[in-house]
Amino acid sequence: MKALIPAAGLGTRFLPATKCVPKELLPVVNKPVIQYVVEEALAPKGVDEAIIINSHQKPQIERFFSEDAALVEHLKSHGKADLAEKVEEVAALPVSFCYQDDPKGLGHAVLQAAELVDDDPFFVLLGDYFVPNKAMCKAMQEVSRAHGNCSVIAVAPVPHDQVSRYGIVAGEVVASPDGKTYAEEEPGAVLKLSGLVEKPSPEEAPTNLFIVGRYLLSPRVMELLKTQTPGAGGEIQLTDALARLLEEEEMYAVVVDAKTGCDTGTPAAWAGVNARMTLTDPSLRAAFFEELGSEELK
Ligand code: G1P
Repeated sequence: MKALIPAAGLGTRFLPATKCVPKELLPVVNKPVIQYVVEEALAPKGVDEAIIINSHQKPQIERFFSEDAALVEHLKSHGKADLAEKVEEVAALPVSFCYQDDPKGLGHAVLQAAELVDDDPFFVLLGDYFVPNKAMCKAMQEVSRAHGNCSVIAVAPVPHDQVSRYGIVAGEVVASPDGKTYAEEEPGAVLKLSGLVEKPSPEEAPTNLFIVGRYLLSPRVMELLKTQTPGAGGEIQLTDALARLLEEEEMYAVVVDAKTGCDTGTPAAWAGVNARMTLTDPSLRAAFFEELGSEELK
C-alpha cells in the first residue's frame, strides 16, 4: 500500500527563503518538514512506500532522500557515527517520486500517481502538516476496516468564518470502532458522509468540519480524477472527485483533534511549530530558554 505526499507547490508564502530551498525542506528543529511527513506516512500497517509528488523545479527534495556515501564516510572518520547514522536513516526510507509540473490543483497532483498505487487503497498526506505521534492515519485505518475498507478522511472543527479556506464535510454520527458514539465535533467521532464541498462560503457550508489533510482513499478516485473538471479557484479539486466517489461508495470521516498535528503552512505557523517541538523535547527545552534569554518565559 502506498502513501502519497503532494509537494509540488512553489512555497511562495515563504519567499525569499524558498527562492533556493523548497518549503518542504525547511527545518523543524533539525529535520526538514517532509521527513516528519514521510515517517508519519510509513507508520500505518501495510504502507510500504511513500511517493512524493514533486515538481522538477525542486530536485533538492530527491537529493535529500538519496544516499551520500562521501558525507557518511567523512562523518564516520571524524568520530561522528551518530550523525552518519542519521544521514543513512534518511536514505534508507522507502521513498519514490513522481511529478506534477503544472500546478493545476490537489486533485491533479494526486492523479499523477495513478499508475503507482496498484489499484489498492492509498493514503494522501498533505506535505505542510505533520502529526508527531503518527496516530491519525492509524485511527483512519481502524474506521476503514470497521466499514468494509471504505474511504476515510480526517476532519476537525474550524471557526465558522474560516470554512471558505477548506474542504468541508457533512454527515451523520455513527458508532466509532471503540463502540462509543461521540458528539459531532468531539475527537473520536465517526461520521457517515453525505456530502463534501471545497471552499464553501459560510452560508453554503453544511457544517464547520474541515478536511485537515489526511485521506485514506479507494483507488476508484483515480478513475474519477481523470475526468474531474476544475472547481474552486479554477483548480482540479480532490474534494470534488470525492463528492463524486460518494455517489458510488460509502465514505466516512473521523473527527480528530487538529492540535495533535503541526501546521507548517505559513511562516507564523512554522515558527510556532519549531517552538513547540523544541519545548516538548527535554534535551532542548532548557537550552531554548537560555537562548531566549528570558527567565520569566519559563
Ligand atoms: C487543500 C484541500 C482542502 C483541505 C486543505 C487542508 O486545500 O483542497 O479540502 O481542507 O487542503 O489544508 P488548499 O490548502 O490546498 O487550498
